[in-house]
Amino acid sequence: MLRRKPGEKHRIELTVNGRRMAGHAEPRMLLVDFLRHELRLYGTHVGCEHGVCGACTVIIDGRATRSCVRYAVQCDGAEIRTVEGLAAGEDLNALQQAFSRHAALQCGFCTAGILMSVTQFLAETPRPTEAQVRDMLSGHICRCTGYEGMVRAILEVAHSSAEA
Ligand code: FES
Ligand code: FES
Repeated sequence: MLRRKPGEKHRIELTVNGRRMAGHAEPRMLLVDFLRHELRLYGTHVGCEHGVCGACTVIIDGRATRSCVRYAVQCDGAEIRTVEGLAAGEDLNALQQAFSRHAALQCGFCTAGILMSVTQFLAETPRPTEAQVRDMLSGHICRCTGYEGMVRAILEVAHSSAEA
């Protein structure tokens, strides 16, 4: 069995938003800290740090996942999508534009995680009902908005892609 000294760092290689990236992490380093401090991707936020608020949500191998309850070493070789991968340069994607149009964010602390959950949700549920949208959002805590703008934005994006 491979044994490491306490504090010894592991090299982690993963694909983030389509780019191969690498860094080093102690076994106890959380994925969210690895993304922010090792890869300098600061879009993913840290809130509760115990899997409740959803602020740290990213998509790991196709599943929206709290990155504060994953160790970076568990994600060696994984494919990860973060909020930085949604826009094309300066051009926000349709979901981001809808959030802006419907005032679905205020301070924005929760927004990156919610956008990633919604991205996976709409991929799996392209024509959601309002009840399904509200149920999905129940996995995230937003202190500012009351969620109404988010519901409108998500339904608008779903309906416009269904009509396209
Ligand atoms: S910071 Fe990960 S769920 Fe709150
Ligand atoms: S916009 Fe402030 S916590 Fe959601």
